[in-house]
Amino acid sequence: MNLILLGPPGAGKGTQAKRIERSHGLVQLATGDILRAAAASGSEFGRRVKAIMDSGALVSDDIVIAAIKERIASPEAKGGVILDGFPRTVPQAEALDAMLAARGLRLDHVILMEVDEAALVARLVGRFSCKACGASYHEANHRPKVEGVCDLCGATEFVHRPDDRADAVRTRFEVYRRQTAPILPYYRDKGILRTVDGMGDMDAVTRQIEAIIGVR
Ligand code: AP5
Repeated sequence: MNLILLGPPGAGKGTQAKRIERSHGLVQLATGDILRAAAASGSEFGRRVKAIMDSGALVSDDIVIAAIKERIASPEAKGGVILDGFPRTVPQAEALDAMLAARGLRLDHVILMEVDEAALVARLVGRFSCKACGASYHEANHRPKVEGVCDLCGATEFVHRPDDRADAVRTRFEVYRRQTAPILPYYRDKGILRTVDGMGDMDAVTRQIEAIIGVR
C-alpha cells in the first residue's frame, strides 16, 4: 500500500505517519526530515537548504523529487510507503505518478488532514523534539512520560524547530495555500482524495485514517 498524508503545517502528518508506519509495516518518507538531515550535515548544500527551510519557503522541486525517487527505489520501500510532506506542488505530484508508474506501483490513498488555523498555530508554537532522536512532543498535548526525558531514547535535550517561529509559520501557511492546496483538485479528479477531521485527539485521528486504509 502506498499513501500520502496531506495537510497544512502542524496538521499531524508526521505524528500519524509514525503510528501507521508501526502498525502497518510501511516506511515513512518525510521530505522535511530528509531535508533537515541534509541541513544538519553542515555542507554548503545543507546551509542553502537550511536557509530556505528556516524562512518557511519551499525547497526546489528538483531537489525533493530526486530525494523521493531514490528512496522509492530502495528495497525498504518495497512493502509500501507513507509520504509525509511530499508532494507539495503540482509538478511534484506529477513526478510522483511517473516514478510510481515506472516501478509498476500506484497510489492507494491520499488523505487530507483538516485542522483549523488557530489550532495549527498552537500546535506549532508548542512543538519541541528530542535533540538526539527527533521524537516530537508538544508542551500541552504530548509531553514526555517522564518530565525532561525522551520516551523513545532517554535523552534529556530538546529543541524547537527554527521554522516554528511566528513569522516563518505565517510564511508556511501562505506557501501551503498558494503552492500546495492546488494539488487537492489534482487528486480529487483522480477520485482518491479522502478527508479526515484532524481536530480530534491523536487516537481519534488514527481511527479515522484506519477506517480508510484498514486496521492491522
Ligand atoms: P515539514 O517538516 O514537512 O513541515 P510541515 O509540512 O510544515 O509539517 P510539520 O512537520 O510542521 O507538521 P505535521 O503536519 O507533520 O505535524 P506534527 O505531526 O509534527 O517541512 C518543513 C520544511 O521543509 C518546509 O517548510 C520546506 O521548506 C521543506 N520541505 C519539506 N517537504 C518539501 C517538499 N515536498 N517540497 C519543498 N520543500 C519541502 O504535529 C505538530 C504538533 O502538533 C506536534 O507537537 C504534535 O505533537 C501535535 N499534534 C499532532 N497531532 C495532534 C492532535 N491530533 N491533537 C493535538 N496535537 C497534535
